[in-house]
Amino acid sequence: MALLTLIGRVLHNIHPEITYRLGSILFSLPLPPCRCETRWEVGGVKTCGPVGVAAGLDKTGAYARFLSFFCPGFLVVGSTLPRRRQGNAPPRVARVRPYSLVNAMGLNSPGIAEVVSRLAGLGYPVFISVAGFSAEDFFTQLIYLQRHYRPAAVEVNISSPTYRGLWRDLPRLVDVDLPIFIKIGPGTNMPLVVKAARRMGWGLVVTNTFPVEDRRISVGRGGLSGLLVYKYGVRMLGRIRGLVGPDTPIIYSGGLFTCSQLREVLKLANAAEALTSILYFTPFVLKLLNQCPDIV
Ligand SMILES: Cc1cc2nc3c(=O)[nH]c(=O)nc-3n(C[C@H](O)[C@H](O)[C@H](O)COP(=O)(O)O)c2cc1C
Repeated sequence: MALLTLIGRVLHNIHPEITYRLGSILFSLPLPPCRCETRWEVGGVKTCGPVGVAAGLDKTGAYARFLSFFCPGFLVVGSTLPRRRQGNAPPRVARVRPYSLVNAMGLNSPGIAEVVSRLAGLGYPVFISVAGFSAEDFFTQLIYLQRHYRPAAVEVNISSPTYRGLWRDLPRLVDVDLPIFIKIGPGTNMPLVVKAARRMGWGLVVTNTFPVEDRRISVGRGGLSGLLVYKYGVRMLGRIRGLVGPDTPIIYSGGLFTCSQLREVLKLANAAEALTSILYFTPFVLKLLNQCPDIV
């Protein structure tokens, strides 16, 4: 842990756009996957542990092999779109103290077919996160996944700040025989989405980033992630668990860095995801979180 703290301090002093690009080269190394030893389950989906990699770290599938080496519970790849989308111009990421980030990547994607082509033969539980600017975008991708890839589960991202409030409610989704988790955020109309999720037997991911203004970002605004989100994320988790009851599977996402946080979160959620802690403290965080005592 002391080494990770030291690495975190060094990384803290490099511009986040530069660490992001350096990380892109390093994260493309095709390391062998960790042996999936810890058995975990969320909504009937078998994973290698309680903590997965959240959507957005590997938007293209290019880092999945590297990340699987660090024994995550599962990998969420994406968010994807049906076709290529450029995303926003840099600067798209800025650091916020303590241990937080604002990002506005702009839902950049090479398109779902290219992403999925990189995941063949990976041998690790992969969730695909799909994004969309129309109901048809979601429809096309769900059908594509059902026919051509069959991930362990699908996350439907309706809560990216890039949408600027487009999806407060759910778009009409096609009924596919894949486990579905709806990723909600602070702008989501909770009662409506919760009702739909319960009716359809879908799980939820709570929460996405929190929309904030930041003049360092090219588009002047973005989503806040990391430690600053944790307190509000856990509050939202409590509210959602109260609304859905005990049976709906929930994956928690938002500022997860430590085992004591994970213990708190797993009282209400069935699994969790991390992203910003990986950027601050390297993917070894995944190994530590998935081996927390009293949990696994
Ligand atoms: C650089 C970056 C890119 C992200 N991209 C996506 C995305 O494409 N889809 C999505 O659902 N969430 C995305 N997120 C949100 C994360 O998946 C996660 O929900 C959020 O960052 C809170 O978790 P954290 O505090 O552990 O980072 C992104 C977050 C960051 C920091």
